[in-house]
Amino acid sequence: MVINISFLEEEHMSKEKLIVALDVDSLDKAVTLVEQLAPHVGVFKIGMELYNSAGPDAVRQIVKRGSKVFLDLKLHDIPTTVAKTVRVLTRLGVSIINIHAGGGLAMMQAAASAAQDEAAVRGIKPPKVIAVTVLTSLDQNALNTQLNIPGTVEEQVLRWAKLAQQAGLHGVVCSPREIKAIRETCGENFIIITPGIRPAGVSKNDQQRVMTPAEAVKLGASYLVVGRPITGAKEPVQAAREIVNEISKASGGNG
Ligand code: C5P
Repeated sequence: MVINISFLEEEHMSKEKLIVALDVDSLDKAVTLVEQLAPHVGVFKIGMELYNSAGPDAVRQIVKRGSKVFLDLKLHDIPTTVAKTVRVLTRLGVSIINIHAGGGLAMMQAAASAAQDEAAVRGIKPPKVIAVTVLTSLDQNALNTQLNIPGTVEEQVLRWAKLAQQAGLHGVVCSPREIKAIRETCGENFIIITPGIRPAGVSKNDQQRVMTPAEAVKLGASYLVVGRPITGAKEPVQAAREIVNEISKASGGNG
């Protein structure tokens, strides 16, 4: 009996680490996936495609079904505009919001306080506000010659991760290859969300550098974002359960 309870707890903890990317263009398609996968997944990610097609209703429909939402809109504007946007998104009940670290310290501080303040006013749990550092589509040459930012991609990722932490943000989104350095630099409590995850033997699609769920968890990832390996699988539920199992084993039974 005790073994069963701890097994269920462990599965629950591991499931909380899995974020499924709902990269679809309609609410119907998103809701179909959510209804299938909700028992096996902690969080659903709504990106620009779905949000710009279905609007805030996409968030409401998922929250209404008892699941958490990571709203991946990568906000980047002047501090006041970002703060006001974070307030309306907090009211919608999102659990994770992200903003560009490139917007600077003041913008990130404004976003962090807006989330705390709005949640306190409404008596709800504040969303985690997460920074996007260097987009993984940019390589060192683009960073140095187009954006005029010196150094390596990893150096810039770490600079922005530290700035995000200083601003009071809860963590960053980063590629799997940056997990280790960020974990070492920003400490145990900093949230690290990583896409580019592929279970062994699954197609990489257009992802260049991928890692398995187990590798990413062992390096210190807090959440894994997985899209097509689950949403494009013949059996999405089975695919999600296999990933949760892999997370569970890699967490050494500590979820
Ligand atoms: O289908 P796949 O697992 O590749 O989906 C990954 C998700 O993570 C997509 O929603 C993608 O936009 C997002 N993402 C990414 N790489 C980044 C940032 C976000 O793949 N650097």
